[in-house]
Amino acid sequence: MVVMREDAELPGDLRERLRTVRSVGTITGAGVSAESGIRTYRGTGGLYDDPEEGERTVEALSGATLVRDPDRTWRALGQLARQALDARPGPAHYALVAIEHRIERFVLLTQNVDGLHQAAGSRNVIDIHGSLDTALCTRCATRSRLARRDLAAFERAPGCPACGAPLRPDAVLFGEMLPSDKLRRIHEEFARQTPDLVLVAGTSALFPYIRGPVELARRRGRLTVEVNPEPTDVSPVVDHALRGRAGLWLPRISHALTPFAAAAIPRPRDRFGRPLPAGTPSELPAAPDALPLGEAVEHGLALLVDGHCFESHEVFERIWRAEAAEKDRRFWRALAQLAVAGCHAQRGNRPGAAAVLERARGELGRYPERHHGVARGELLDLVHRLVASAPDPRRSS
Ligand code: OAD
Repeated sequence: MVVMREDAELPGDLRERLRTVRSVGTITGAGVSAESGIRTYRGTGGLYDDPEEGERTVEALSGATLVRDPDRTWRALGQLARQALDARPGPAHYALVAIEHRIERFVLLTQNVDGLHQAAGSRNVIDIHGSLDTALCTRCATRSRLARRDLAAFERAPGCPACGAPLRPDAVLFGEMLPSDKLRRIHEEFARQTPDLVLVAGTSALFPYIRGPVELARRRGRLTVEVNPEPTDVSPVVDHALRGRAGLWLPRISHALTPFAAAAIPRPRDRFGRPLPAGTPSELPAAPDALPLGEAVEHGLALLVDGHCFESHEVFERIWRAEAAEKDRRFWRALAQLAVAGCHAQRGNRPGAAAVLERARGELGRYPERHHGVARGELLDLVHRLVASAPDPRRSS
């Protein structure tokens, strides 16, 4: 096992192996949401830091308590929901979406019930512990959506909108069985066709169904990588243990996995999800690493204008990382932020989009109106329109 600290770069041999990877299985836990402001269970500052509080939480969130005293379980869930009310996906979540976009086969096994992977745009997700975004009727099994704000306010078990019977969270509580369909999917994705890379991030990896896929991948000679600030039970098993935050390492891994090459960038899609025809201006004409800066910038801008905010962000982030001139680094980072504002707007997060837009506007104000061929005013107007057209959840609720 090679251990790398956060201030180091990805080791060369890992970078080399990442280049050959065609399929990725990722396993995440509470640590990937820590940078979004959600407390972990264990580890420094975790919910179980105070053993008494930990015990109370575990008891309240158990299947037995749900049967005996459902109000108590819902109150405890409300408490969890309150700290996640304004949580938004962070760089770790978005890095995994980028990998899914670019890699042939991708699966994400998460223990998190916060829905942030899905909010960021991850698709092939096995949420083995379920989700707090939905609830199930204990009588008629109707599944209903659960607004985070409602969940945060519950003092009693809510009733089913169809039949009035008590609802239960659509999540696995302590002492309950794991859903067999999801266990089957884990077997399919990790055992029947073991991915080239198994990446385990932000989890203390205590459970056998979490450690198992990592151990199996290692036995089968696949690449195994852990991202965690602290050593865990799975650390001795992996090829590389990257010590530090997921928000820092996962974007680096994403970039190393999908080198900045035209072939790896999915063809832009129109707003109905249809691929745009070849030759559409926003397609990269050549491997962007070899592109002159001016063309890469034009490409990033074209993507943003076409509404491909996610891809645009990738382009500007890469320029930012590659930029040697200190005086321009904040400029490229601000352009990457503008694209992030667009992503938030497209996902219906208007407050988040507006906040990021304002930060980027402040940064861009340090530079001339036209810099590296970028017309600041026009670009800000464009993103401003995108943000203004996004729904504002605070108004609609
Ligand atoms: P834990 O709270 O057990 O572990 C979180 C891990 O994230 C720890 O190993 C931390 O060191 C690490 N960590 C903290 N900040 C990080 C960061 N910025 N980047 C990367 N890693 C970071 O969470 P899980 O492993 O998800 O079950 O816990 C598994 C299950 O135990 C949960 O799903 C929950 C709990 O009891 C149920 O609710 C059924």
